Amino acid sequence: MDRTHVVLPAGEIDRQREFTRRAAALLRQRGRRILAMVDTYGCQQNVADSQRIMGMLREMGCGFTRDPGQADVIVINTCAIRENAEKKVFGVVGQLVHVKENNPDAIICLCGCMAQQEAVARKVRQSYRHVDLVFGPQALWKFPELLYEVCAGRRRVFSIADEHGTIAEGLPVVRESGVKAWVSIMYGCNNFCSYCIVPYVRGRERSRNPADILAEIRQLAEAGCREITLLGQNVNSYGKDLDEPMDFAGLLEEIDRIPGEYLIRFMTSHPKDADRRLFDVMAKSAHVARQLHLPVQSGSSRVLKAMNRGYTREQYLEKVRYARQVMPDLVLTSDIIIGFPGETEEEAMETVSLIEEVRYDALFTFIYSPRPGTPAAQMPDPVSRAEKQVWFDKLLDAQNRISGELHREYVGKRLTVLVDGESGDPQWPLSGRTHGGRLVHLRGEASLIGRYAEVNITGSNTWALFGEL
Ligand code: 5AD
Ligand code: SF4
Repeated sequence: MDRTHVVLPAGEIDRQREFTRRAAALLRQRGRRILAMVDTYGCQQNVADSQRIMGMLREMGCGFTRDPGQADVIVINTCAIRENAEKKVFGVVGQLVHVKENNPDAIICLCGCMAQQEAVARKVRQSYRHVDLVFGPQALWKFPELLYEVCAGRRRVFSIADEHGTIAEGLPVVRESGVKAWVSIMYGCNNFCSYCIVPYVRGRERSRNPADILAEIRQLAEAGCREITLLGQNVNSYGKDLDEPMDFAGLLEEIDRIPGEYLIRFMTSHPKDADRRLFDVMAKSAHVARQLHLPVQSGSSRVLKAMNRGYTREQYLEKVRYARQVMPDLVLTSDIIIGFPGETEEEAMETVSLIEEVRYDALFTFIYSPRPGTPAAQMPDPVSRAEKQVWFDKLLDAQNRISGELHREYVGKRLTVLVDGESGDPQWPLSGRTHGGRLVHLRGEASLIGRYAEVNITGSNTWALFGEL
């Protein structure tokens, strides 16, 4: 699609600012301080989207609360990746009926990936009549206009048109931390892995202009931000749709030139497009963390083909070998799906053998969840949930042992750790991350937050390291 139709003209964003002013005026008429609550489910992209929604709400004059009973505007930003995530959200939204009974003026909004699905919108229209506004990820930038329509007309608004998707620059943002920031570099996905709903709800791949990304990162680095995570469903596709092509490795090289004491992380990399050039650029860069989230999904080449992943077990392993050759200290993590339709026990055990071979630092593991509308949801799926659970437990046991062993190797070492927050545990009051992204619990003063500390690692478990300054 022509870029001029993808990047929204500045006039569109100005128009939304006008709706922001009008919505603010209507909300002010309520004669009290207006509070908003934004509740976020799912991935980091949703977290980043919620920060934009909060930015728009702040410009409408809203303060923020975590208590739905206090809120005039409630936004539930949802995830559709698995059925469990959807069930949880329906539970939360169902509860909000009581909030609406107590405060009929409260405006309840449902957005994110669930909202983009027609079946969900239909269900909300019929059975969740207390929900005022439903909009999908492609309509996020229009939130001021949509909210204004609800306020002005006191009617329900649904904006879930299935679109290619656009890029909106210059949206306001509320960043919850001065230490860490999310920066979306692209939106949407064209990969259509056969189990995945994302390409149906987040539109086609579209890359932000490098100049806009670089300006945002420069600003963050100047403001003292220490850790910047670049986001995209598949960052390795970055740039394919730009007028002047630039690949993801090229973007990393440009970012790396920005001065400052900060780390760059990124997610998610698709193994089919992660190439040697990317690993070489990571290896020689000053700011890019030696950390890679490279979801393999399965260790069976037959299952990978059925998943439409575009690589075999051997090709994946070859990429990992090369990445570790140029970055021996690389921290490697992955996503796994167990129980894909038609997967046999033997194939599931190929996944266990793959993780034994790779020895990931950590894994995100899921049991397959059918997503209506995806090809995999039509495939015969004869294996019982109980049997899949047995395979899943074997995978977890193996990974927990591996993570525990890898973490034990850190004990006695001295590491640089970015102290990023308080843990709530009086024994280990601070938490931080190593350059490779491993979680470290440590003792020290809250004044260390936002600073790098040299930490002696004294203990470990399956999930984290423990250390002293
Ligand atoms: N069922 C289970 N897991 C899924 N994922 C994506 N779709 C599904 C599904 N239908 C997992 C994949 C992906 C991660 C974000 O969620 O492992 O990498
Ligand atoms: Fe889903 Fe595959 Fe796209 Fe990732 S790359 S969002 S798993 S379709």
